[in-house]
Amino acid sequence: MSAGLTRVPVQLGARSYDVVVGEGALAEAGSLIAPFLSRKRVFVAADENAESLHGHILRDALSAAGIEGVWVRVPSGEQQKSFAGIEAMLDAFLAKGIERKDFIVAFGGGVVGDLAGFAAAIVKRGVDFIQIPTTLLSQVDSSVGGKTAINTAAGKNLVGVFHQPRLVIADIRVLKTLPVRELRAGLAEVVKYGLIDDTEFFEWVEANAAALGAGEPSLLVEAVRRSVAAKAAVVARDEHETGDRALLNLGHTFAHAIEACARMYGQVLHGEAVGAGMAAAFRFSTKLGLCPGQDSERAVKAIAVLGLETDWRKLPGAPYQTAPLLEAMRHDKKNSGGTLTFILAKGIGQSFIDRNVDAAQVEAFLEELVR
Ligand code: GLY
Repeated sequence: MSAGLTRVPVQLGARSYDVVVGEGALAEAGSLIAPFLSRKRVFVAADENAESLHGHILRDALSAAGIEGVWVRVPSGEQQKSFAGIEAMLDAFLAKGIERKDFIVAFGGGVVGDLAGFAAAIVKRGVDFIQIPTTLLSQVDSSVGGKTAINTAAGKNLVGVFHQPRLVIADIRVLKTLPVRELRAGLAEVVKYGLIDDTEFFEWVEANAAALGAGEPSLLVEAVRRSVAAKAAVVARDEHETGDRALLNLGHTFAHAIEACARMYGQVLHGEAVGAGMAAAFRFSTKLGLCPGQDSERAVKAIAVLGLETDWRKLPGAPYQTAPLLEAMRHDKKNSGGTLTFILAKGIGQSFIDRNVDAAQVEAFLEELVR
C-alpha cells in the first residue's frame, strides 16, 4: 500500500475490517483486494455514472493484480433500491455464474452499496463483499457499518440485513467529479460526527468549513479519515443498533420527514435534509431548554458555511407543511410504543437519544420552521 493511504480499522471481532482512505486508493484496488480472494475474480456491481467516470481505473487495477472482473451495471438513482432492483441484480449475478466463494464489489454511491450489500448477504445464502464508495456521503457513512437495505411502499430502508463488508476503499480523488451539491450534502454527515460527541472535530470542521465546501482535497482526506474513525467507534460498540448507534441519526428524524414531504420525490438530497435536520435538532433542543442558544447558533452557522441550507423555507422541495411532516415522523423506524424519538443535544458534542418527545411540542416547532 502506498505511503499516502491510511487504514482505519473497524473492530468487530471476527468480522473486523479496514477502511483504506486516501488520494489514489482506487488505482491500488487490485493489490488491496487480492489477498482476500481464493479465486482471482470479483463480481462488480457498478453504478453507471461511477463506471463511466472511474471504471477504467478499477478495471486497470484489477487486471494489474490478475483479477477477473465480472461487471453488472446498475442504473443510477434511488428507485433501484426496490424489490425489482434487487431481483434484477440477483438475476444478473446468478446468470453470470456467481458462486459461494466469490466476492461482490459495490462500486458507486449509497444506492449501489446498499443494494449490492443486500444482494451479497442473500445470494447463495451469503457471499463476501467489498465497498468502493465514490460519493462523499457513502465514504463517510453508508459504506461503513454493514447496514444494507431496499425501500418498500411503506418507506425507506425497511427491508434489509446487517452484512459487514470485508474491506472498504475510499479514494478521495474520485470526489473531484462529484457535483458540488453532492459534495456539500456529504459534508452534512461529516460535521454530524463532531456535533454528536467530538467537540474538537467540530471545531476543526468549523475552522475549515468554507474550504471543505469548496472541495479542498487534503482537507477531504482528513474529513473522511476522522469521520470513518468516529463511525467505526460507534459501530464497534453497538453493531446492531440496540443502543447508542442511534446517535448516528442526529438530524435524521427531521431529515426523513423532509425527504418524504419534498414537493417532488428526490428533489432534496439526503445530506441536504440531514443538514437542515441537524440545524432543527439543535434549535429544537434550545427551544426545549436543553441546549445553550450560542451552541445552536454555532452549529447552524457551521452547517451553513459548509454550503448547506438551514432555512427550511428555502430548502429544495419547499414549501413544507407541518401536518405531513409530523405524520412522516410518526412512521420513523426509531419510534416505538407511540412516542417520537429524536436525537437532541445538550451542546456541541453532547448529543443524546430522547425516546419520549411530545408530539405537540414538535408540531409547534415545525410550524415555526416552515411558516
Ligand atoms: N447511517 C447510520 C448508521 O449506519 O447507523
